[in-house]
Order: sequence, then C-alpha cells, then structure tokens
Amino acid sequence: MPEAFFPERIVVTGGCGFVGSNFVRWVVREHPEVGVTVLDKLTYVGNRENIADLLGRRVELLVGDICDEELLDRVIPCHDAVVHFVAESHNDRSIADPDPFVQTNAVGTYRLLEACRRHDVRLHHVSTDEVYGDLALDDPARITEESPYRPSSPYASTKASSDMLVRAWSRTYGLRATISNCSNNYGPYQHVEKFILRQVTNVLCGRRPRLYGDGRNVRDWIHVDDHSSAVWEILTRGRLGETYLIGANGERDNVTVLRDILRAMGRPEDDFDWVRDRPGHDRRYAIDASKLRRELGWEPRHADFAKGLAATIEWYRRNEAWWRPAKEATEARYAELGL
Ligand code: NAD
Ligand code: TYD
Repeated sequence: MPEAFFPERIVVTGGCGFVGSNFVRWVVREHPEVGVTVLDKLTYVGNRENIADLLGRRVELLVGDICDEELLDRVIPCHDAVVHFVAESHNDRSIADPDPFVQTNAVGTYRLLEACRRHDVRLHHVSTDEVYGDLALDDPARITEESPYRPSSPYASTKASSDMLVRAWSRTYGLRATISNCSNNYGPYQHVEKFILRQVTNVLCGRRPRLYGDGRNVRDWIHVDDHSSAVWEILTRGRLGETYLIGANGERDNVTVLRDILRAMGRPEDDFDWVRDRPGHDRRYAIDASKLRRELGWEPRHADFAKGLAATIEWYRRNEAWWRPAKEATEARYAELGL
C-alpha cells in the first residue's frame, strides 16, 4: 500500500459539469480543509449554477479552456493535484459532430499532461468504461483492468486516446498519475440530454419518453456520489501509474430503467415511444470493480437503485428552474437527429 497523499489544494477540471460538480460538492462536504479551483470552459453543458453556492469559500471558478497552455501554466503550479473531469461527453453528439471531441478529449488532455509534467503536479484522469467497448447480452464476463480497449463511438475513442496519453506520460516521463474508468452515472445536476434525465424531464413536461432500438441495451448504473468517493480514494491512496475500474454492480437494461421511471412517476409502463437505434450502439457494459474494493477497501454507499432513482426524480421535480432552460433546445436537437 503506497503512502497516503493528502492534497491541500486541487484543480478540478470540468467542475461545472455533472460528475465534476458533484465531486466538488463531495470534497467540500467530506474534506472541507481542501481548497478547490474549478477550471471550466462553460460549454453548453457546463453551468456555473452547479457550484454557485460554494464559490467564495474554499472553492473558486476560473472560466477557461484546458487547451489554453498559458492559462494552465498560471493555474496549475500553486496546486498539489489536478483531478481531470473535462470532456465532451455525449455519444449522440459525438456521432453528429466528432470535432470538439477530438479537440477537448484528446488534444486537451495532452495539453494538461504537458502542464502537469512542466510543474510536476499529480494528476488523476477520470475516464469511462466505454473505452473497453461492449459485451454481448449473454456473455457471463465483466470488464476488468486487463480487458482490451475496443471503443465504438467517437466519444469512446477520444476518451481511449486520452487514457493512452496518460499511460504513456506516466511511464515515459514518470508523471505521477492514476486513471479511473467508471460506468454510467446518475444523480442531480446531470444534463437533460442523458438517458435517465431526458426521460424524467420528458414526463415532467408532459412529453413521452424515447427509447432507442429494442431497449435491451444494458448499462451498469452507479450513483454519482459513489463515483466521487472512489475518485477520492484513488487520488489519495491509489498506486501511481495504475488504472482502477469503478462500478457498483448496477446492470439494468434500458427498458427496465424506463419502466422504473414511469412507475415511480405514476405513469403507465408503456407510455413511451420507440425510436430508431443509435449507430454503433454498444450492447452491454458491466464492470468488475474488485481491484478497487480489494486494494483500497472502497464500497458504494448508494447501491439501492430504486432509492437513488426516487431521490433523483425528486431533485428534478424540485429544480425545474435549473433544467428547464436547456430542455427545449435539447429536444429540438434530438428531433433533428430523429431520436
Ligand atoms: P459533462 O459533459 O456534464 O461535463 C463536462 C464539463 O467539461 C462541462 O462543465 C464543460 O463545460 C467542461 N468542458 C468541456 N470542454 C472543455 C474545455 N475544452 N475546457 C474546459 N472545460 C471544458 O460530463 P460528465 O458527465 O460530468 O463527465 C465528466 C467526466 O466523467 C468525463 O471525463 C466523462 O468521460 C467521465 N465519465 C462520465 C460518466 C457519466 O455517466 N456521466 C461515466 C463515466 C465517466
Ligand atoms: P446515455 O445516457 O446517452 O449514456 P451512454 O450512451 O454513455 O451509455 O444513454 C444511455 C443508454 O440509453 C444508451 O443505451 C442509449 C439509451 N438512450 C435511449 O434509449 N433514449 C434516449 O433518449 C437516450 C438519451 C439514450
């Protein structure tokens, strides 16, 4: 077990996005002594409101692009670690327009790695299980750290590229880095373009939910707070140069999740529309997180999916002012794609 590392000041890239802002909240709650600098470009998905109530205390926000070397040279030196959440993150968008994915996910991570190398700052790179590609529905196997990289979409392939860069910088330059690959997250502050929140907000708006293909694709759901606690464990106690998978045994197919949502919201179970499939749509994700559990003793605290889903639905009910401004534009874009 390596010596624990306790950072006093961290940079959180992408801290105004879904997972990043939940991580910032988690750190403020669990480790209030740690100072946090959020670096975020505030793209269509980044929202200052996600951390507005935390600003001015131990959290500050710098609006900027991770591709901006000069900015990185100003921000990174006075910090002990960078936790890197920034990404273009939505598969459907990556299929329609891959360019920002290559820029932010691959080139942006490269720029960040170079800045961390110049200033000898520890990096934790947050990635996705999608870099490993999909499994068949009847395959008894789950993904482990030893599984081959087989990304399907422009999103997954640019995340895979960023992981490869981090591995090379760790080995060749001795950069102090770790990587985590997590399964699908759900919880508050998730953009309404993503599956669960799109359906919940559709019901709240009186629209019918939309299910792709045959609805049997399986995702391995984890509550975003469990992702945050795992990232913290890896940042502070993980072995340098290592990859850790994060998952909470939450495999469910899309039609089951959608029916859970409809039932929880008092709607009939068949009150949704089937739409065309996503090109290259990954069939099934399933994570084996035993390395994380064994080495770092991490355990999820929100493994009851029905309870987590009910709390998330309630959050969206109570925070319409937060999601409403993005809803019409998101649905207009989906309509153009026929989804
Ligand atoms: P998100 O799209 O909600 O947030 C991304 C954030 O990055 C936004 O705040 C955006 O403004 C910012 N950003 C984008 N491009 C930028 C740039 N060039 N410079 C600075 N800021 C920029 O994404 P998310 O769902 O919170 O995902 C965060 C990370 O977690 C990603 O790396 C993703 O691959 C990983 N991840 C997400 C999930 C999930 O289910 N959401 C699961 C596993 C891994
Ligand atoms: P998504 O939230 O986009 O995450 P990812 O593609 O990273 O897994 O989609 C989750 C699953 O839900 C995926 O199998 C696609 C499906 N899906 C729908 O059936 N309907 C929708 O409206 C959306 C957005 C996704």
